[in-house]
Formats: sequence, structure tokens, C-alpha cells
Amino acid sequence: MTLSIRTKLTFWYTSLLAISLILFGLSFFYALSKIYMNRVDREMSSVAGLMVHTIVEPPGRLRLPKNFDIILERFFGLRIRGNYIQVLTPDGRVAGRSSTLEGLELPLTERAYKRALDGKRTYETIRTFGVYPVRILTLPVVVKKTGLVAIIQVATSLEGMEEVFHYMVYFFSFGIVLSIIIAGGVGWFLAGKALKPVDEMTRIARRITAENLNERLPIVKPDDELGRLASTFNEMIARLERSFRQIKQFTADASHELKTPLTVMKGEVEVALKSRADEKELREVLLSILEEIDRMNEVIKGLLTLARADIEEAKKEPVRLDTIVEERCEQFRRLAGKKGLKLEKQIKQEVTVLADQVRIGQVVYNLVDNAIKYTPRGGTIRVSLETRGRCAVLKVMDTGIGIPEDELPYIFDRFYRVDKARTGGGGVGLGLSICKEIVDTYGGKIDVESKPGKGTTFTVYLPLADNTMKEVN
Ligand SMILES: Nc1ncnc2c1ncn2[C@@H]1O[C@H](COP(=O)(O)OP(=O)(O)OP(=O)(O)O)[C@@H](O)[C@H]1O
Ligand SMILES: [Mg+2]
Repeated sequence: MTLSIRTKLTFWYTSLLAISLILFGLSFFYALSKIYMNRVDREMSSVAGLMVHTIVEPPGRLRLPKNFDIILERFFGLRIRGNYIQVLTPDGRVAGRSSTLEGLELPLTERAYKRALDGKRTYETIRTFGVYPVRILTLPVVVKKTGLVAIIQVATSLEGMEEVFHYMVYFFSFGIVLSIIIAGGVGWFLAGKALKPVDEMTRIARRITAENLNERLPIVKPDDELGRLASTFNEMIARLERSFRQIKQFTADASHELKTPLTVMKGEVEVALKSRADEKELREVLLSILEEIDRMNEVIKGLLTLARADIEEAKKEPVRLDTIVEERCEQFRRLAGKKGLKLEKQIKQEVTVLADQVRIGQVVYNLVDNAIKYTPRGGTIRVSLETRGRCAVLKVMDTGIGIPEDELPYIFDRFYRVDKARTGGGGVGLGLSICKEIVDTYGGKIDVESKPGKGTTFTVYLPLADNTMKEVN
């Protein structure tokens, strides 16, 4: 069973209070009984001290006066109930006792007797004598020449103390129970009040689904714990809202990108079927359909790459970036030549990064592909690779048409294309978003600088493998 925080708080609060009250009560009783006993012991000790002179006759013999009981009454006021005196011979026999004992015999414990034989006094609390416990002082009377002459026992009933303690225990128990009930009630109320915003947050959070992600939790006090929790929640909901919107946008864009070529193909096929086209015209229609199929293929390939990057865990192994760049440049050399472009590469050293060979190859491929696509005849493309600090730095520079400044923030978005009718266009608009996704996966960064009409430079930063290894070890 899980208890609510409110119940737990109240429980802990009242338990702590109960424990401290009980501890306080116990120490109070202990201290009080100590003080009381000390006082009783002191009184018994002074009575016993006075007694010694009454019962010892020089040079050191026990002799009880005939009117022993009367003397006790007169001198020590022993008529009062609950005060007892008993004199014993050294072998433990009773020699005389106060009338208050009413014929009863004060017990002499073995321990007290042994100590008396050793000349030591003993204070004891005995519970077996009568209804109430008694405090007994057993005092040996020792004379220098003759040794142990007698044993005096002075006893006081602890009836008064017992009674007071009895009432106080009642009083304390009642007080403690009452305090716990009051504290529990107040604690329950306060905990409820403090946790009320949590209930409110739960209620609203329950209401928030994918459909109404624009709702936010109310923040009463922004600086307290609950206020911070609510704003963290709100930030999380805002992030969710953003990604939901992106997903919706992406789905809409993807469907649109796939639908367009289908519509074109359908139109062309319908026209061809209606008209009595000859073989040459049909061939043209087929070629156009093939082009659209190629385009759809590109879109699907791009989507698959992105989906895979989202789902699959990125492989991380040392790969030689310089070799990849070298291979990719060679792959494009013919195409660049055909387009009348100069493709230069500048690889300064061996560069190893921790990544997946195929994915990193795709980054280089997409960047060089764009440079070739968006650079008019006669231009130059320069690919350079070097290391700077702990990073590999790959630059793909072209002297192409460039990208307007206000478009730069969007070019890494999925399906985003600058001015779809531009030279060399016809791309799907996924290349750069794939690049960014891959570079992000490997802890890198991709930057772009561009001047319309002058050219564009993409720079990719990736952490070096040996550096990462050093950090790991
Ligand atoms: N080197 C470049 N010079 C000029 N414009 C560029 C360059 N690289 C990218 N762009 C612009 O950024 C847009 C997005 O590029 P991205 O590579 O994502 O898509 P794409 O090249 O159109 O299609 P895809 O690469 O998916 O076939 C491009 O449509 C293009 O307008
Ligand atoms: Mg591209």
C-alpha cells in the first residue's frame, strides 16, 4: 500500500513529536526521582547518625535504652507513619525497633549485610515490604576497639512519591496524547494546504494530451519548489509541443513530396492513354515517368536514412576521415568535369574520428553534391580537411550561387529548399538535414557561411578519435 505524501508527512511529524515528548517525560521522571531519593537518603543518613550515640555505650558496646521507642518518638518524631528504625546485632538479630513497624521486621538483604560487615553503608529500595516500596539505609556502627557493634536500619516509605508519580504519569500521558492529536490534526491540515498546488498540477497535467499541448500549469509562486517544478513541467510540455508540431509538419511535407510525383505521373499517363500517341511520344512519357520515379526514390531513400538515424544506435568506431574525403572527391571528379567545375582537395594530415564510415561518407557526399549542384559552370569547389585543437575540421567551399542571409536559418530543416526553381535545383531538400542529424549524433557541429552570387562554405567540426580515447582512458 502506498501512502500519500500528506499522510506520510503527518505521520512523521506526529511520530517525532510523540518520541520527543515521551523522551522528555521519561527524563523528567528520572531526574525527579533522583532528586527525591537524594533528599530521602540525606534525611535517613542524619537520623542514623544521631542514633549511633543513643545506642552505643562506651567503650564500645551495644546498649539499647529501656525506653528506646519513646526516645525515638521524642527525639526523632518517629510517630509519623512511614518512618521506621530497626537496630540489629552484628550477627543480624533484631535488638530493637520502632513501634511504627508494628511488630514487622525490616528486611536485611544479603548484600547490605555483607557491606555492613565490611563497614560500608547501603541505600536500597525494597518493593517487597508492605504495599508501597521503602527506601532503607543500612548503617554499620563500628567502634575502633571492638569493631562492628550494631547495624542500624533507617527506612522511609516511598508512598508519597509513588502517589505523586502515579498522578503525574496520568497527567503526562493525557497531555502527550492530547498534544499528538492536536499536532496530528494541525499537521494534516498544513500538509494538505502545502500540497494543494500539487493536486491542482496533477489535475491539469492529466488533462494535457497530444491534442491540447498548448495548455500550461499555473505558477503561483515561481521561486518555491512547486513553482520550479511547474515551470520545469511547462518547459517540458513546450518542448513536446514543438516536437509534435515538427513531426506533423514533417509528415505533411513527406506526404506532399511523395504525392507530387505521383500526381505528375498520373496526369501524364492519363493524357497518353487518351491521345493516340505514337511510339516516340510514349517513350517520352515513359522517360518523364522514370524521372519522377527516380525523384520518389530519392525522397524515400532520404526518409529512410533519417528514420534509421532516429531509431538505430549510432555505430562508433575509429574511421579515417581523410580517406573518406579522398574517395568521395574522386567519385565526384567526373561529374564536376562534366559540369565544367574545378574540384580541388586539400588534405593536410591523417585524421581519425569516432563514427560510422557510411554515415560520415554521406555527410561528405551531400555537401560536395550540393556544391556541384549549386555552382554554375566555370566555378571552383574546394574541399579541405585539417585538425584544430581537439577537432577535425572539414570545409566544403564553392563559388556558386550562394544562399540569401534570411534563408540560412532554415536550410537544415527537412524538405527546405531555397527558391525551388534555382539553377541546378530539383533536390529533395533532405541532404542538409541528414548531414546535421549525423554530425549531431557524433557530438559535432555544422556551420554555414554564404554570400549570394559569391559562394558558400560549409564547415563540419567532429571530435578527434584519439582525443576521445584519451578522455575515456
Ligand atoms: N552549396 C550550396 N550553394 C547554394 N545553395 C545551397 C548549397 N547547399 C545547399 N543549398 C540550398 O539549401 C537547400 C537545402 O539543401 P539540401 O541539401 O538539404 O537539399 P537539396 O540539395 O535541395 O536536396 P537533396 O540534397 O535532398 O537532394 C537547397 O535546396 C539549396 O537551395
Ligand atoms: Mg543536397
